[in-house]
Amino acid sequence: MRIGMLTSGGDCQSLNATMRGVAKALYKMFEDVEIIGFEDGYKGLMYADYQIMKPSDFSGILTKGGTILGTSRQPFKLMRVPDENGLDKVEAMKHTYRKLKLECLVVLGGNGSQKTANLLREEGLNVVSLPKTIDNDLWGTDVTFGFQSAINVAANAIDCIHTTAASHGRVFIVEVMGHKVGWLTLYAGIAGGADIILLPEIPYDINVIVEAIKERSRQGKRFSILAVAEGAISKEDAALSKKELKEKKKNQVVYPSVAYALGAQITEKTGQEVRVTVPGHTQRGGEPCPYDRVLSTRLGAAAAKLIQEKKYGYMVAVKNNEITEVPLEEVAGKLKTVDPNCSMIQEAKMIGISFGDE
Ligand code: F6P
Repeated sequence: MRIGMLTSGGDCQSLNATMRGVAKALYKMFEDVEIIGFEDGYKGLMYADYQIMKPSDFSGILTKGGTILGTSRQPFKLMRVPDENGLDKVEAMKHTYRKLKLECLVVLGGNGSQKTANLLREEGLNVVSLPKTIDNDLWGTDVTFGFQSAINVAANAIDCIHTTAASHGRVFIVEVMGHKVGWLTLYAGIAGGADIILLPEIPYDINVIVEAIKERSRQGKRFSILAVAEGAISKEDAALSKKELKEKKKNQVVYPSVAYALGAQITEKTGQEVRVTVPGHTQRGGEPCPYDRVLSTRLGAAAAKLIQEKKYGYMVAVKNNEITEVPLEEVAGKLKTVDPNCSMIQEAKMIGISFGDE
């Protein structure tokens, strides 16, 4: 029996640990299983770039970050658009799958990759997927693998900023990844003891932020630390349509990211020295933390079980710390965002963290 496997989209620390979980369980379940590893995500499936994996390929990779298969971004919206040589990408993927006589395709991926996995399911392929992303924005699962490891990196960045911010008496902005959602910033911000946390789900008012910083100064605090999601947005901008926002940006100074724009505004309104730190892709790098290693192992074994039961068209998921599965058609195209009224935000506000909204 042949099983195809690929890692798709942005990488994270725990992809190898997850593939190891799937593979080890499959090798135990079936004597005759052969795993085909597609290189660089869906691209490998499209262009039939693959390796026949050996059990030893999955040994010693539990703690290894990145992905031994390589990955690439293949935007879902371009899946139906032929490549530069006129190749029909979806037909090409189906062709490779059938030519290799795969029993099932295992996809480790985030939002876009789950949409493509669902598309391949609709096209008649057997697919089982696993929830990967540092953003934790996949609908249908409480948590994704990669998220916890990324929190560790981002929180560590905020920890390191604390000492230098305190020495110099500066305002620091740490820009945290997370794409359009604020999960990573919320957790890293609380874990790192940030004073102000800005999330895309809670549009901010610059005057509220300025007042929070001034209040800290009045209390004799020498520094302020802001954990700002890369997708954070002001109340004013959130009220605009996409077209209006584009128009507004045309007439503004162009900053590399939201953190820099915010930094300039804070300096202007407080006169305080502001520094910006962007940990960027370090948040996806390095070793998976123990929590992710455990989660990946569990999710991997559960994916193998679905294959054993021939239960296809599902993404394995976490619900109340139990591993379960969700139909791919329910997952595809939905985003799991932070609820601005969740108790975690209320608790954070109770200890004085400002979310820039009130
Ligand atoms: O989805 C994971 C993520 O790291 C996001 O947090 C971030 O917005 C994006 O990927 C960065 O993508 P790239 O690696 O393509 O620059």
